[in-house]
Amino acid sequence: MIESKKMANKKMIDKQSWKPGNVLAPVPAVLVSCGGNKKWKQNLITIAWAGSICSNPPMLSISIRPERHSYDIISSTREFVVNVTTEKQLKAVDWCGMVSGRDVNKFKRTKLTPAKALKVDCPIVLECPVNIECRVRKIIKLGTHNMFLAEVIAVQVSSNLIDIRDKFRLDKSNLLAFGLGEYFKMGPRIGKFGFSVRKRK
Ligand SMILES: Cc1cc2nc3c(=O)[nH]c(=O)nc-3n(C[C@H](O)[C@H](O)[C@H](O)COP(=O)(O)O)c2cc1C
Repeated sequence: MIESKKMANKKMIDKQSWKPGNVLAPVPAVLVSCGGNKKWKQNLITIAWAGSICSNPPMLSISIRPERHSYDIISSTREFVVNVTTEKQLKAVDWCGMVSGRDVNKFKRTKLTPAKALKVDCPIVLECPVNIECRVRKIIKLGTHNMFLAEVIAVQVSSNLIDIRDKFRLDKSNLLAFGLGEYFKMGPRIGKFGFSVRKRK
């Protein structure tokens, strides 16, 4: 009896084989700011292929197609800022991923505010709650995209999202998520790192 029920469950989780592709989701859709010196005007590019890759030194990667304007800027300056986005920036996030900085001034058109970074020579996006300043260490050719491996050299976080215990309230920041060509809201917090092995007091 138990055996047949198990079989029934297995049948309910039927699988289809898809061709290999980028189905890892959700991921953040970030605004990467770059440029802003004598040679390069400041620019914004929407990036979904971004992620943390090392704890110490803190490092992250972004993957960009070589034909993008931002690719030229970042390969030349070797600096950029990852600006974590919220629901409020949804339209700007999508739009900055549709037009090129070769043709438009994306800061002006989105009315997002470029502000001074702490350590890099390109602007942060003031409205974004987390700004991660990065210096490129290595560029890896992959295929359609090349990957910039970068060290995080400074971080700014909006004070209104830090609670009295100095904790950044991700649950209150309305961050934007992206997956399979669609944007999503984040849900409520449902656990804490290591909770599954923690003993009850
Ligand atoms: C949600 C979203 C995610 C994107 N992710 C990437 C990405 O990871 N890498 C990339 O090269 N382009 C990505 N793009 C496309 C670029 O943002 C887009 O081509 C942009 O217009 C390039 O701007 P630029 O020419 O000013 O650099 C994405 C676009 C959107 C809307």
